[in-house]
Amino acid sequence: MDIKNLRKNYNLGSIDFTDINSNPIAFFSHWFKEALEKEDREVNAFVLSTVNIDNIPSSRVVLLKNIEEKGFVFFTNYNSSKAKDIEINKHVSMNFYWPKLERQVRIVGFAKKISEQESNNYFKNRPRESQIGAVISSQSKEIDLDFNFQELIDKLNHQDTIKKPVHWGGFFVSPIKIEFWQGKPSRLHDRLAYELIDGNWIYKRFSP
Ligand SMILES: Cc1cc2nc3c(=O)[nH]c(=O)nc-3n(C[C@H](O)[C@H](O)[C@H](O)COP(=O)(O)O)c2cc1C
Repeated sequence: MDIKNLRKNYNLGSIDFTDINSNPIAFFSHWFKEALEKEDREVNAFVLSTVNIDNIPSSRVVLLKNIEEKGFVFFTNYNSSKAKDIEINKHVSMNFYWPKLERQVRIVGFAKKISEQESNNYFKNRPRESQIGAVISSQSKEIDLDFNFQELIDKLNHQDTIKKPVHWGGFFVSPIKIEFWQGKPSRLHDRLAYELIDGNWIYKRFSP
């Protein structure tokens, strides 16, 4: 393996600093649409980082499920490690990487649970097997190496409708920083960073 010689030149695009969208969430939606057209992997997959009670960070992939006017929604198990981290420290970081566009978006924000009603509405529209998965998985808990989920699946399969468990639902992330990165030749990448200051989005360009 010759990892040190793995490198790629970025040359697909640039950020137009003469025509900046004053709303970074609208700009994110624009990039997201372009990613939907160009990427073939899960465009809505992002790395979510949280920090636990001992200040130790932890990252994992989750799926973005909604872009709203003021922020972003993902779903998880409220008893999971990430949810426990958020209970103690609501600061989270989200990272999207769209390699076919040579783009990265970094978001810092505050996460809070969405309403039971909103989580129910989303849960009802999930495929049945995902609903069953949410009911039977005690996410982030240790289980026996030979644990078999089939018995639990069979039990639930007798039910007509699967009810959302109370321990499952969404988080809404209100962003306070959003940075857009576009790869450029010679590692002179474009970086456009927005920060929410006194309720207004201020943007700045940063050196790569
Ligand atoms: C492509 C992909 C998508 C995922 N989507 C989710 C998701 O939307 N929600 C979720 O809770 N976990 C999702 N996971 C699993 C998480 O990465 C993680 O394993 C799990 O949530 C437990 O994390 P925690 O113990 O840090 O809370 C996904 C993993 C991958 C690789």
